[in-house]
Amino acid sequence: MRHSAIYPGTFDPLTLGHYDLMERASGIFDRVIVAVAENSRKQTLFTVDERVDMARRATQKLSNVMVKSFSGLLIDFAQEQKIHVLVRGIRAFSDFEYEFQMALTNRKLAPGIETLFLMPKEAYSYISSSTVREVAERGGDLHGFVPASLVATIRRKCLGRL
Ligand code: PNS
Repeated sequence: MRHSAIYPGTFDPLTLGHYDLMERASGIFDRVIVAVAENSRKQTLFTVDERVDMARRATQKLSNVMVKSFSGLLIDFAQEQKIHVLVRGIRAFSDFEYEFQMALTNRKLAPGIETLFLMPKEAYSYISSSTVREVAERGGDLHGFVPASLVATIRRKCLGRL
């Protein structure tokens, strides 16, 4: 489908920066699939079902956004969905090398699939899932880091882990 895009990620947990990207992509494309990686290279704190559930709750108001999980290669998932555009966020120059490597690897594997980069709002450019986990594990206030609807869930999970 031409005017659809996939926004893939681990979302462990979903942050305001991720949500900002979802909103931007939903304003550009007719349909956006948020693709939650079942097994990314990272060891996740939240299960894939929890990450999917957080993404669904956060995007309830974005009617053209749907959330699915995937395992295996992202390009295989994109081809299954018949979507040729991947959206990724770049927060700062430090994200560039990893993103560049991933985009070109995906392009080598599937030349018909393009990666487009969007920048989140600058106010969110320093937020990462790992700092959110660190703050949450120590009982810090998560407002301003993650969507308000997810604060309690993330806090509970992170505190339970300690
Ligand atoms: O939010 P993240 O952790 O930066 O997202 C990374 C993700 C999940 C998009 C990436 O690891 C991925 O696409 N994993 C699936 C495996 C794959 O297709 N790898 C090839 C690209 S190197």
